[in-house]
Amino acid sequence: MRKILLIFVTIAFCSCKKSNTNYQTSDAMNNITVDTSIERKIDSLLKIMTLEEKVGQMNQYNGFWDATGPVPKKGNQAEKYEDLKKGLVGSMLNVRGVKQVKALQKIAVEETRLGIPLIFGFDVIHGFKTIAPIPLAESASWDLEIIEKSAKNAAEEAAAAGLNWTFAPMIDIYRDARWGRVMEGGGEDPYLGAKIAVARVHGFQGDDLSSSKTIAACAKHFAAYGFIESGREYNTVDIGTSTLYNTVFPPFKEVADAGVKTFMNAFNELNGIPATADTFLQREILKKDWNFKGFVISDWGSIGELVSHGYAKDLKKAAELAVKAGSDMDMESSAYVEELVSLVEEGTVDEKLLDDAVRRILRVKYELGLFEDPYRYCNEQNEQEVTGKKQFHEDALDIAKKSIVLLKNENDLLPIKKQGVKVAIIGALANDKTSPLGNWRLAAKEGTAISVVEGFQKYDGNSVNYAKGADLVIPNTEISMVQEVQVNTTDTSEFGEALSLAKKSDVVVMVLGEHGMQSGEARSRSTIDLPGVQQQLLEEVYKVNKNIVLVLMNGRPLAFPWAKEHVPAIVEAWQLGVESGNAIAQVLYGDYNPSGKLPMTFPKSLGQVPLYYNHKNTGRPVRDGNVFWSHYSDETNEPLYPFGYGLSYTQFSYDNLNVNVVGENEVQVSVKITNTGKVKGKEVAQLYIHDEYASVTRPIRELKGFELIELEPRESKTIEFKLTEKELGFYNNKGEFLVEPGKFNVFVGGDSKADLTNTFTLK
Ligand code: BGC
Repeated sequence: MRKILLIFVTIAFCSCKKSNTNYQTSDAMNNITVDTSIERKIDSLLKIMTLEEKVGQMNQYNGFWDATGPVPKKGNQAEKYEDLKKGLVGSMLNVRGVKQVKALQKIAVEETRLGIPLIFGFDVIHGFKTIAPIPLAESASWDLEIIEKSAKNAAEEAAAAGLNWTFAPMIDIYRDARWGRVMEGGGEDPYLGAKIAVARVHGFQGDDLSSSKTIAACAKHFAAYGFIESGREYNTVDIGTSTLYNTVFPPFKEVADAGVKTFMNAFNELNGIPATADTFLQREILKKDWNFKGFVISDWGSIGELVSHGYAKDLKKAAELAVKAGSDMDMESSAYVEELVSLVEEGTVDEKLLDDAVRRILRVKYELGLFEDPYRYCNEQNEQEVTGKKQFHEDALDIAKKSIVLLKNENDLLPIKKQGVKVAIIGALANDKTSPLGNWRLAAKEGTAISVVEGFQKYDGNSVNYAKGADLVIPNTEISMVQEVQVNTTDTSEFGEALSLAKKSDVVVMVLGEHGMQSGEARSRSTIDLPGVQQQLLEEVYKVNKNIVLVLMNGRPLAFPWAKEHVPAIVEAWQLGVESGNAIAQVLYGDYNPSGKLPMTFPKSLGQVPLYYNHKNTGRPVRDGNVFWSHYSDETNEPLYPFGYGLSYTQFSYDNLNVNVVGENEVQVSVKITNTGKVKGKEVAQLYIHDEYASVTRPIRELKGFELIELEPRESKTIEFKLTEKELGFYNNKGEFLVEPGKFNVFVGGDSKADLTNTFTLK
C-alpha cells in the first residue's frame, strides 16, 4: 500500500512544473491569483493525507540537532527527530547551510510516507551572512530601489544556504523609542512604512518565487506589536480603531496586495485578544477582506503563550483558539502537533479548518518549487560562490552611505579635509567590529564589520589616532542574543588618555551610542540617552576641544539635547553593517554627500515619548496666555529632530508650489527645487497634507508623497506629485474608507516641518 501511495504522489508531484500561463482564478478586489493547476495538486494531496499528516504540515520546529551528525537518541531532540520521520513536521527554522538543510530535507522527502518537502525559515532581517545596515537605518535612505536591492541580495545569499523563507520584513509601525525592535522596521510613518515594506517584499520574493535566488517573505507582526504599552517588550496593546486602520494596517494591506507569501502574527494582545488567537485580524481582515492566499505562522511559541495571557486554560484550548482564529502554522509551541488531532476527532475543531491551513502551506511550497525539486536551494558549490559575494559588499557599502543622516554641521566642520589634519577618534564603538552589525545577525560572524578606525585608516593624508576613552560594556561580561548587556556606568579611568589626545588634535571624531545588542527583541530601554559614561566623556572632551564630530551608532532614536546645543557636527550612523567604517569615513571625508532623512522622530527627552510628527491637534494646541494648553511645564512639545529631517553638504530651496484639483478626488502638486549650495547632492522632497475638518479628526500632517532627486549646484528641477483617493481618504471607526469634501493644506519641503504651503478644496 505504502508503495502505491508513493507512486501516486510522485506522479502528482512530477506534473507540477510551474506554468506561468496557468493563473486563471483571479479576485476582482485585487491582483491576487491562484494557480489552478497547483490547486488541483493540493486537492489530490489533501485527499490522501491522514489527519496526523495534515497537522504535521502545520507544525514548525526549531533546528534541533546537527543534522549531519549522529541521530539524537534521547529526550526532546529524539522526539522531534521521530516526529520528522513520521511526517509530523512541515517546516523548520534556524537550520541553515546546504549540508544541514539537505540532510533534513532528505528525511522529509525520503523517509516520510508522502515525502512532502519541508520549508526552511530563518530570520534574514538585514542580510544573511553579509550584514547590511539595520532596517531602520536603510529606511533613513528613503531610497526604495536600494532597499529592494538589499533584500534581494539577502535573499540570494540565504537561498544559497538552503533557505526558502525569511521572517521579514517587520512592518510594524511604532512611535516609542524605548522599544528595542524599532531597529527592525521602517519607522513611525504608515505611508513611508508601506512603501518600504513593499520594496522589501519585492526584494526577497522577486518576480519568480521558484527561482533559487528568491525566498518567501513574511509580513510581521500582525498586528499592532509596535504599540506595546510604554515600549516594554511583549507588553499589552490597547489602541482604537482609527489607529488600527489608519496607522497599523496600511503596510500590511499593501504587502498583502503585493503578494507577500506569509504573515506572522504577534506576541501581543490587542484590545484584550491575543493576536495569535484573533479571528478578526486573521480571518476577517487578512483572509477575507484582503483576500490573502498565503499562510499565517504564529510567533515563537505564541500559541502556547495564550495560556499565560489568560486567554486559554491549557495548551489544548490554546491550539483550538489559534486554529479557529486562522493561525496556520505553529512555531515551536507544539500545541498543534500535540492537540489538533484529538480536537478534530472529538468534533471541537472542524477538519476543514486544517484543510484550509494545509492548502495555504502547500501552496507556498509549490510556488517555491519545492515539490518539483526539494533540493533546489541545496547546491554546495553555489553556496560557496554566493556567500559573501563582492557585489553584496559593494551594495552594503552603497546603502550604508545612503542610510547616514547628517543632523548638524555648524561652520562646515564637515567634510574633514583629507590632508594635514590631526584627527582624534574617541569612543569604544569606534573600534568595535561587531556592534555595527546590530542585532538580528544570527548567521553572521562576530567581528566582521569594518570599524570606524579602520575606515579612517584608508585615508592616509591625515594623522589619525585612536583612544577608547571608556568601555561601553563592562569588560569580560558575556554578550549574546540571550544575555542582557552590562553597560559600564562607573569606570572613567581611561578618560585621561582620550583627553590628552583630543587636546593635541584638530578634529575629534567621537563615536558614541549603543552596543549592537542594546536594541532588537527583548531590548527595551527605560532611558534613551547615551548609555553609561559616554555623555560624561563627551562633555569632558568638549572642555579641551570643541571641534567635535559626534558619530552616533544606535538602533533607536536617542535623546542628546546637550550634544545638539554644544557639539558642532552630529552624524546619525545607526548600525550600518559590514561596511560601516568605510561608509562613515567616506561621508565624513566628503567622498559621499549624505542624503538620509530620519524615519522616526528624535525626542528631546524620554518624557515626550511617544512623540511622532503625525499627531492630532487636540482642542488646545497653542498657548493662550495661561497654562491651560496641551504642553509640559518643563519641556517643549518640539522634538530634538523631526521626522524626515536630514542635512546635506549642500543646501536646497523649494518654491513655486502649485496645487490643482484635476479631477474628482485627484490633485496634482508641483514644486521647484534648487540646489543652492556648492556641491552636487541628493534631496528627499517630501509632501505632506492636512485635511482641516473631517468626520474623524485627522493628523496635523500626513506624508503622502516623496521623491529622491539629485541636483548639481545651481540646478533646479520641478517635480510632480499626484494625490488620489488613496492618499486623500482615511478609514472611519467602522473600518470604512472615506474621502470627504473640504479644505486641505499641502506642505512641501525637506522634512515634516516643511513650511512651503498651499491649499486645495475637494468638492
Ligand atoms: C520574533 C520573531 C522571529 C521569531 C523566530 C520571535 O521571537 O518575535 O520576529 O521571527 O522569533 O526567530
